[in-house]
Amino acid sequence: MYRTHHCNQIRKEHIGEVVTLSGWVNSTRDHGGVIFIDLRDREGLTQVVFRPEESAEAAKLSHSLRFEDVLKITGRVAERLEGTANDKLATGDVEVVVQEVVVISRSEVLPFQLDKELSNEDLRLKHRYLDLRRPRLARNLQMRHRVAKATRDFLDEEGYLEIETPILSKSTPEGARDFLVPSRLNPGHFYALPQAPQQYKQLLQVAGVDKYFQIARCFRDEDLRADRQPEFTQVDIEASFVEREDILNLVEGLLGRCFKEALGVEIPTAFERMTYQEAMDRFGSDKPERRFGMELIDLTEELKDCEFRVFSGAVSNGGVVKAINAKGFADISTGQIDKLTQLAQEAGAKGLAYIQARGEERTTWRSPFVKRMTDEEIEALRSKLGIEAGDLILFAADQWTDACEVLGRIRLAVAELRELLKGNTDLDFLWVTDFPLLAYDEEEERWHAVHHPFTRPKAEDLEKLEAGEFANVRAEAYDVVLNGHEIGGGSIRIHEQGLQQKMFEALGISQEEQEAMFDHILTAFSFGAPPHGGVALGFDRLVMLICGEVSIREVIAFPKNNKGIDLMSASPASVDFKQLRELYIRSVAKEKKAEDATESSS
Ligand code: AMO
Ligand code: AMP
Repeated sequence: MYRTHHCNQIRKEHIGEVVTLSGWVNSTRDHGGVIFIDLRDREGLTQVVFRPEESAEAAKLSHSLRFEDVLKITGRVAERLEGTANDKLATGDVEVVVQEVVVISRSEVLPFQLDKELSNEDLRLKHRYLDLRRPRLARNLQMRHRVAKATRDFLDEEGYLEIETPILSKSTPEGARDFLVPSRLNPGHFYALPQAPQQYKQLLQVAGVDKYFQIARCFRDEDLRADRQPEFTQVDIEASFVEREDILNLVEGLLGRCFKEALGVEIPTAFERMTYQEAMDRFGSDKPERRFGMELIDLTEELKDCEFRVFSGAVSNGGVVKAINAKGFADISTGQIDKLTQLAQEAGAKGLAYIQARGEERTTWRSPFVKRMTDEEIEALRSKLGIEAGDLILFAADQWTDACEVLGRIRLAVAELRELLKGNTDLDFLWVTDFPLLAYDEEEERWHAVHHPFTRPKAEDLEKLEAGEFANVRAEAYDVVLNGHEIGGGSIRIHEQGLQQKMFEALGISQEEQEAMFDHILTAFSFGAPPHGGVALGFDRLVMLICGEVSIREVIAFPKNNKGIDLMSASPASVDFKQLRELYIRSVAKEKKAEDATESSS
């Protein structure tokens, strides 16, 4: 038998008992020739002491023990000597005096220390099995399990069935690039890994399943960030005979259960709501971080005739002028201004006009253009932006969407520079509703679905869809936002064949393409489809926020790095030529290499 207790279980009431523990050597200390170790398993630590008078043999062996060796020990639980109790440890009142020790396995010197934070994430990921021994990551995995269990329990109680859908599936137009899998049995044909089980969950509604959920793995070949992985997990939900309110209520209840079970906190039973229009207008984001102010102020009317052409020119082009007041930040350095300007430019802006209001009087204001403003314009700025001595004002003059997005990013960057959220543990939940149905892609010169092509237009905007006024059609779509992170999104769907075809047409998908790609769903809708809708929560993001982490990699057992590489198993990797041949695939990369080799040898 390896254990009678785990390493976080023994308390004062066990004093005098003989116990067996197994685990890793977390630390060793030599007190005048007597070795103390902290033995660690998943649950915690127990202090173990090797006293020669208890077992000379074990005491002798104890001098050879190193960090991360795996032991089984049997010994007597004793109270710690007066003054040596550790109140930071659940087992801190007791220790186990070893009678017998078995060294199960030895550890080489580790590539990094487990009790120190390590900034080299690649090294952590290469030895992820060691990284996961750290208490913080071990706790994250446990939390992830608990949130998954709370999800399953809650949805089961609500009558939802957990149903698996194919991983080898067909490309879904969810907006990202697909990962493709070649089919050996069907030469030249490919499966796609699902970006989400969107069409399957809708087809399950046509099948009469009524209430479906799945903790589903999704795959998207997109550029990676702290909150994006190429494979990630969704709590995917779909139901029949529901309206928007039903789904919003369900998600509020589900998140309430998750936060209660995971953190023991009560969250609001109904979240505030904001339309996409308002979120963009006030916060410059469709996932507003509302835990600090610095809202976007519109100055289009006030500055439309400004002598400074950047402003008046944008307005005469049909654009807007907006600004934020970064309170107390007038002493920003030139370097910081340049950085913010660069950030604005990366977001598509032509520049970032600013005023450093060092004093009350405009003569004390430092700015490239203040001298060209009239007194009325200055007064309008003062009153609308509440300018006081010491403030920094940042402007964007552009088309509405661009101006909002640029200032939205700048607002977050300023908040980070000013550490406005440092130590803030508030939970700000928000529904963002009424997204546009379609957006125009300038590069591809066509309309694309903002959510996905199965999202229902708002009933009151159907006429606009018919009339081709695509820019003004809103969707029955909603996102749930927590502290500036989009943790979920969904919509009420189209369930009518005709309307679905109209949507595909708006997206420029021809009749033939519709038949090739979407025949299954269009046909399904012709056999009696119930009205339905749903949502998908980003499970990794949710767990990340519950754990107080800033990257989803911290809550995924084996994540990829930001280049999509699994450093531990060195994947993706090249494969054998024979394997490729079997799949009717020729790797141009290999040919190119061979070509280069012959060239250099000749
Ligand atoms: P959507 O594409 O908005 O909707 O995805 C739902 C949620 O999944 C999370 N998410 C991600 N998490 C980690 N890494 C990624 N690469 C990633 N991409 C998305 C986000 C997001 O809110 N089928 C629809 C849902 C529906 O309509 O029911 C869908 O997938 O938190
Ligand atoms: P310029 O006259 O182009 O040198 O610009 C003067 C100031 O306005 C600089 O600080 C620019 O960064 C800024 N600027 C230029 N274009 C815009 C714009 N569209 N929105 C906001 N600021 C801008």
